[in-house]
Amino acid sequence: MKIVPDRYGKCMTDTHIEVFATGGTIAGMAGSATRRDYRPGQIGIDDLLAGMAALGLPAKLVGHQFANIGSEDIGPELWRKLHEAAAQRMGDSACQGIIITHGTDTAEETAFLFDQTLPTTKPVVLVGAMRPADAVGSDGMRNFANAVRVASDPEAAGRGVLLVMSDHIFAARDARKARTEGANAFRGFPRGPVGHVTPASLEWFGPPWRVDEPARFEFHENMPKVSILYAYAGMSAENVVQALEGGAKGLVLAGFGHGNASGGIRAALADAVAAGVPVVRASRVDEGLVDREPDDDAHGFIAARALGPPKARILLQLLLANGINDPVRAQQAFDRR
Ligand code: SIN
Repeated sequence: MKIVPDRYGKCMTDTHIEVFATGGTIAGMAGSATRRDYRPGQIGIDDLLAGMAALGLPAKLVGHQFANIGSEDIGPELWRKLHEAAAQRMGDSACQGIIITHGTDTAEETAFLFDQTLPTTKPVVLVGAMRPADAVGSDGMRNFANAVRVASDPEAAGRGVLLVMSDHIFAARDARKARTEGANAFRGFPRGPVGHVTPASLEWFGPPWRVDEPARFEFHENMPKVSILYAYAGMSAENVVQALEGGAKGLVLAGFGHGNASGGIRAALADAVAAGVPVVRASRVDEGLVDREPDDDAHGFIAARALGPPKARILLQLLLANGINDPVRAQQAFDRR
């Protein structure tokens, strides 16, 4: 076995990592350095792995091409295929970790869904890129090499699903795409990054917090419809009515500031709760908790706490799909890290 000591004195051995490729900018081409002519999903997993092999990383990477698409097109069907495969590979003692290459636009949603539904006994790492492979200053290969290092580290287990971007390691609950461009597009909130990684080094900022934890929820491909209502000045209660008429079984308010909305919207949301449709108050603001307020008890609302609207939507879907309608149990799920 080849043993490569790194500068922190740990060892990185020849680990066996399965790589699930889905596309995104990490597999994209710009076509031009000066024009916006970006096309996602141009590079196949074999070429990506050939690039990695040239770096001489001490890991055996086994690639699987699941899709080669922009992440705006990723949804329940591909999630099911990835989830099934990940669960199966995690059960194989030869496989020591899984990397999923993914577009950055919805990476936080896939990461969070799998974080809640895969037992995190082995490292599961999502990785993407903000710049296509042929762009000036492309970040894909570096992010990928960093992801290999993280997935190869046994200490990555017990931290839930992780997202690796721009030398940062984020926990799925915390990761948010906060910028439309630039390699440093992700933020972690409320925790910030949980570790720092380069192709040559890895440093965790604390111990694992989810050791030996089974999956929190059963995965379902067909989850109940949950709509996000984005608050804006002058918004009318008609928006709530339309979402319910459209078949929403749960609602997430992307509210002002601390999950606020006008009196009319709050009344319409309280009516929805009374009719059996749970409502989560999240915020359209990127950072800051949405904690419980006295009104939440009065109206039966759930506070999104650290989750932004897209992840709050997934958690509410998981709760409903798993038959959890009780607001107290639902709030407990939103309170967990
Ligand atoms: C995508 O999410 O597929 C496109 C954007 C990206 O990967 O950065």
